[in-house]
Amino acid sequence: MANDRRPDDMVRITTPELADAFIEEQIKALRSQIGDKKVLLALSGGVDSSVVAAMLIKAVGSQLTCVHVNHGLLRKGEPEQVIAVFRDQMKANLVYVDATDRFLDKLAGVTDPETKRKIIGGEFIEVFAEEARKLDGITFLAQGTIWPDILESEKGIKAHHNAGGLPEDMNFELVEPVKILFKDEVRIVGERLGLPANMVYRQPFPGPGLGVRCPGAITRERLAAVRESDAILREEFAKNGLEGKVWQYFTVVPDFKSTGIKNGQRSFEWCVIIRAVNTTDAMTAEVEEIPFALMKHLVSRITSEVPGVNRVLYDFTPKPSATIEYE
Ligand code: XMP
Repeated sequence: MANDRRPDDMVRITTPELADAFIEEQIKALRSQIGDKKVLLALSGGVDSSVVAAMLIKAVGSQLTCVHVNHGLLRKGEPEQVIAVFRDQMKANLVYVDATDRFLDKLAGVTDPETKRKIIGGEFIEVFAEEARKLDGITFLAQGTIWPDILESEKGIKAHHNAGGLPEDMNFELVEPVKILFKDEVRIVGERLGLPANMVYRQPFPGPGLGVRCPGAITRERLAAVRESDAILREEFAKNGLEGKVWQYFTVVPDFKSTGIKNGQRSFEWCVIIRAVNTTDAMTAEVEEIPFALMKHLVSRITSEVPGVNRVLYDFTPKPSATIEYE
């Protein structure tokens, strides 16, 4: 690839014109690197892999195959949006794998957070590798590595999260077209490539997905309560001008029930915890001051629309002492 490291004097991409120039340059570089060979991409629907997909579709079209693994821990509407944007609108070769049962069966009864993460990560690689083996003649593996990933792995803060993991006999050459970009630049480039704003500007979402928001052993019922309550929270934040303003917001459904009254009857059901925080680097975080009227509306919608829930709590704890996620 022409640019392997971000040049010290590279101008920050802040305008559509600069983004267009970057796209044009990368497309030329991608075409000369890939030639008439085939490329594979694990498309999660997150910002980085989505932008890489859109860039490669523009550069090499049907030579790209995207694999979207639905591990069953995605937010409401996410797999559907990946299919609508990439298969229907951008006409990508998209292999969609619904591996929900496989993941949930492996996770059944597992309570330790790090074990849950390991199972999710390991199973993801296995499903992806199985799909890769079904495809013939793939030379390249595309990845949504970005410049902070490289800096952090150089500093030893985290292992280079993308590279590695695949079985050793699968030694693809890497294609990393947004490798020298910062996150804000990736977003502008994504917009110019025609990706929807809600995909490009979406809030951070952990790799293990809703799995870490269903503390302890994951059950389908509690997972459904997390997914439905999260969808309501996102809808209300969007309606009330908080989308794009609050850094990260989500719901958690812990593994305990409490007594309540619903329709004049005693109920014994879960509670939903709402978390909404602001930060710049996720190392520390402050709690968002959600307007009280909106809070009451959220309580009313969640307790009446989400099955199995009779109570809603708000987490007022900054980071530290709490982390942003619960596991
Ligand atoms: P914490 O909970 O450590 O989260 O305060 C800081 C940021 O990192 C995200 N996060 C993860 N992202 N895999 C990821 O890809 C993970 O296992 C993971 N755990 C936390 C979290 O959502 C927040 O933005």
